[in-house]
Amino acid sequence: MENTSNNKRVVFSGIQPTGNIHLGNYLGAVRQWVARQDEKVNYFCIVDLHSLTVPQDPAELRFQTRSLAAILMAAGLDPARSTIFIQSHVTAHAEACWLLNCITPLGWLQRMTQFKDKAAKQESVLTGLLDYPVLMAGDILLYDAHEVPVGEDQKQHVELARDIAQRYNSLYEEEFFVVPEPVIPEAGARVMGLDDPHVKMSKSLAHVRGHAVRLLDEPDEIMRSFRRAVTDSGREIVFSDDPEKAGVNNLLTIYKAVTGKSEADVLADFADARGYGDLKVRVGEAVVAMLAPIRERYNELMADPAELDRLLAKGAEQARAVATPKLDAMKEMMGLVLPGG
Ligand code: TRP
Repeated sequence: MENTSNNKRVVFSGIQPTGNIHLGNYLGAVRQWVARQDEKVNYFCIVDLHSLTVPQDPAELRFQTRSLAAILMAAGLDPARSTIFIQSHVTAHAEACWLLNCITPLGWLQRMTQFKDKAAKQESVLTGLLDYPVLMAGDILLYDAHEVPVGEDQKQHVELARDIAQRYNSLYEEEFFVVPEPVIPEAGARVMGLDDPHVKMSKSLAHVRGHAVRLLDEPDEIMRSFRRAVTDSGREIVFSDDPEKAGVNNLLTIYKAVTGKSEADVLADFADARGYGDLKVRVGEAVVAMLAPIRERYNELMADPAELDRLLAKGAEQARAVATPKLDAMKEMMGLVLPGG
């Protein structure tokens, strides 16, 4: 019953369609996903249902969802090799959430730190916010995922999915669900804010001018952000963990990640640089060149909605082929009558 083709490990990634994907996300994560597509069986799920746990503008959410799909494909996630789909296209996710709700103690959800933090900031707390980790558990468990790449902030939710899987298995059938592991991915590169090289480049600050390079920014906007990048009052172009040099170190780190060169080769490239101004322009140009084909492919996909929809429909169909039988098995175990017997 396990979902392992050719004994490859199954990896489930959930990505919220809100916020702007930026250079830090690309160099730190997305590019690794692209490179490792063939090592494992990969599901990339755009979790629109999760986004509804906070108020959304409907037209904006719809746009962001399709846009994220196009960005991921433009960046190199290949629908022929990975399953890329929109969560709400596969109704098994919402159904699995209900079934799992019925075996999940309320106390487990009330002690989630993300829920406590978010709920403390709101006057009226929506049920969806509390239930969010059960929906997430359903996402993961329906595919028998072994690995769930997440940031530190989501680790507790994957641990909850483990608890839910174990509880379900002991109630209904040993080893029915694979008990998933959180994996904190090794970052390809740690990219800091261009406006403040002491904080990580962040989605939530991506709207601040000069902070981030968003994947779809126009070349002159990218160059402007690099020209304004914060450095120091010296003139030494070196890799360094001295906080004083954080800005220059960040520029070199970006260049190294973009070009794939060694530190020595990176420094050799800048041996003739005329000061930081020159450094900033050359790093900016390397980023522009890397992002140009991505932006081009993105624009093509967004200009051809039928093609994007076709690719997403195919992804949803592949996901359904795995999720629906798993859901039906759950329903049967739990005493529901399947239609047609
Ligand atoms: N909660 C995750 C986040 O905010 C997104 C997510 C939803 C997810 N379902 C998932 C991540 C399943 C991994 C697996 O980042």
